[in-house]
Amino acid sequence: MGYKLGLIGYPVQHSLSPFIHQKFMENANIQGSYQLFETEPDQLEKRVKLLKKEGISGFNVTVPHKQTVMSLLDEVDQDALRIGAVNTVVNENGRLKGYNTDGSGYVRSLEEAWPDVFQKEKKALILGAGGAARGIYRALSKQGLQEISIANRTKSKAEGLLDLRDIHTKTEILSYAEAETVLDNFDLIVQTTSVGMSPDQNEQIISLNKLKPHTVVSDIVYKPLTTKLLRQAADLGARTHHGHAMLLYQAQYAFEIWTGVHPKMETLVAQLEQRLRGN
Ligand code: ATR
Repeated sequence: MGYKLGLIGYPVQHSLSPFIHQKFMENANIQGSYQLFETEPDQLEKRVKLLKKEGISGFNVTVPHKQTVMSLLDEVDQDALRIGAVNTVVNENGRLKGYNTDGSGYVRSLEEAWPDVFQKEKKALILGAGGAARGIYRALSKQGLQEISIANRTKSKAEGLLDLRDIHTKTEILSYAEAETVLDNFDLIVQTTSVGMSPDQNEQIISLNKLKPHTVVSDIVYKPLTTKLLRQAADLGARTHHGHAMLLYQAQYAFEIWTGVHPKMETLVAQLEQRLRGN
């Protein structure tokens, strides 16, 4: 029997989560299953009640349910509450508790790849102000970065993120045009919108012409594996961080919440890259 895990979302059939969690279970020698629960918006409450009744161990939540699921849970972790979205739920003796592992998973993936960007004097710029940006902004602020500015098409939406920061974090809200002119201020640039995602892989949210060398440029889009933004970053001598790292580390953190086991990545990064390249 083992752990009963899965993913609620709509649509979910192309999700990579079953592949990732099954590999975690294999590598850690843990028994269990990870199923896809495709759930239309008006069926969410019924689905959550059924999974609880059937004794699910835990589940992930994705689009379009990350916000609406919160009111169906017995408890929501403080950070997830502030971010306003839950992507991981654990069943603790019949009580469902929700977490958000997107931002913290992202930070963990970045720490593994480029730990020097977490020195306190480093400056970060987030592109976008949607759900993904909220989790990442919160997690970066908790890490103690002194400056985390935000650029967004709609400035008022970016202002809505300010409540998420810790007291030490300084944030300027910029337009994309303004961000392009001050790009050399930043040591880390994180692209959090869907711009550049397949089938629109020829789109790029901003030009990186003013980038300083050794900046880390990170894009949470993982289809294509290397976005146009990351290609330009590499051409300019910047260091790059790919979107599938966030996917893997938010899953690692969720797996820890469910099982208490820290799953090793081992060859998983390479295997996932291969899958995303389609071979
Ligand atoms: P998610 O939860 O995936 O982050 P979201 O909450 O819909 O999705 O947020 C989408 C983000 O991508 C927003 O920052 C949005 O900009 P606005 O706030 O101005 O709408 C940004 N975005 C989406 N499509 C965009 C586009 N074509 N050009 C610029 N920004 C875009």
